Amino acid sequence: MKSFENFEYFTPTKVIFGKNAEQEIGTLIKTFGAKKVLIHYGGGSVTKSGLLDRVCASLTEAGIAYITLGGVVPNPRLSKVHEGINLCRREQADFILAVGGGSVIDSAKAIGYGVANDGDVWDFYEKKRTASACLPIGAILTIAAAGSEMSNSSVITNENGWLKRGYSNNLSRCKFAIMNPELTYTLPDYQTQSGCVDIMMHTLERYLNQSGNMEMTDGISETLLRTVMKNAKILKTDPNNYEARAEVMWAGSLSHNGLTGCGTDGGDWASHQLEHELGGMFDVAHGAGLAAVWGSWARYVFHDRIDRFAKLAANVLMLTPTDDPTQNALAGIEAMEAYFHSVGMPTSIHDLGIDLSEEQIMTLADKCSFGCTRTIGIVRKLDTEDIANIYRM
Ligand code: NZQ
Ligand code: ZN
Repeated sequence: MKSFENFEYFTPTKVIFGKNAEQEIGTLIKTFGAKKVLIHYGGGSVTKSGLLDRVCASLTEAGIAYITLGGVVPNPRLSKVHEGINLCRREQADFILAVGGGSVIDSAKAIGYGVANDGDVWDFYEKKRTASACLPIGAILTIAAAGSEMSNSSVITNENGWLKRGYSNNLSRCKFAIMNPELTYTLPDYQTQSGCVDIMMHTLERYLNQSGNMEMTDGISETLLRTVMKNAKILKTDPNNYEARAEVMWAGSLSHNGLTGCGTDGGDWASHQLEHELGGMFDVAHGAGLAAVWGSWARYVFHDRIDRFAKLAANVLMLTPTDDPTQNALAGIEAMEAYFHSVGMPTSIHDLGIDLSEEQIMTLADKCSFGCTRTIGIVRKLDTEDIANIYRM
């Protein structure tokens, strides 16, 4: 088992963090040479909170032209991306400002690829070809969750077949990310908690790997996981707690900008692949979908990495180890599920209000394995049958 594999760590995003961080957005965007900006947003939270009006006013004050396109839904759709590409081309927008969460930022990235490359943007998500450019993107984050503000990924759902697919390329990394924890006060508790699970999963998926132990990378990961769990609990009863919102928001970015995977084999990611099919077919909140599948996945694979699951139990869930490593690993999985329940998150697909038929299980497994052409995961490589078994659990 190797530790400290060679790695590249690239995080070019300028972070502007704290109260009123969005106030100078007009001046800031000017420094990136933007002449005409597409302001991209979601279903209404930013209009309701007044954030959109403030952003528009700041751009006007700075003498920057803009157009707007709202209506991005969670699990953002390809049709909206096409609408954005056509709009940007027609209006000659040269910068995209995403105001919202992961869905809005991911939609902005896809529009950025679409405008800067010929042909159908979906080709990139189908891995048929590689993007050679992307319009510059900036983000004002309103929910701590996906980490798209500092990640190189974008996840889009194609309504034709309800396929949810990700595409990763450094070209789409945000030029800047504005993070004001106060902007997340208006989140419903379910979205806050779902976001916190997603943040945890971005580190957990990297932590549960087939690499050797590393003090630094593992230590950062364990601290991040404990921090998110502690502060998510605080937010359950005190949603306007600035420090807790700030801890979670900063963790969200660090959890998915590559930091917690430095020197590892890259991590497992099976839970994300399992969730993406659920999200594509049933439109569930991403973090809740992850919580629903994680326990079943963990029970299915933990024998292949008992030491690592036991380390999670001891260093993150703070369980006192017994002499039996298998027991320790299982106790950790149980404790993680108990935590999910305690913050109102599901621990099974049934908990999401979905009772899968055998036919639906096979469809999900077929989609997830790209029609039996790939395996997922690294703790244990899972084929179509394994994937179906986990959905069944
Ligand atoms: O649309 P609005 O009205 O803004 O409402 C949103 C949406 O309904 C609401 N919301 C956001 N900020 C709010 C707020 N409501 C009140 N007050 C606020 N301040 O929250 C809901 C969820 O928003 P969304 O953007 O979908 O959340 P999230 O950031 O969790 O993004 C989820 C998407 O990101 C993808 C997921 O698969 C999913 O499609 N992911 C993207 C990744 C990446 N690009 O690196 C990695 C992740 O693993 C993930 O797959
Ligand atoms: Zn995620």
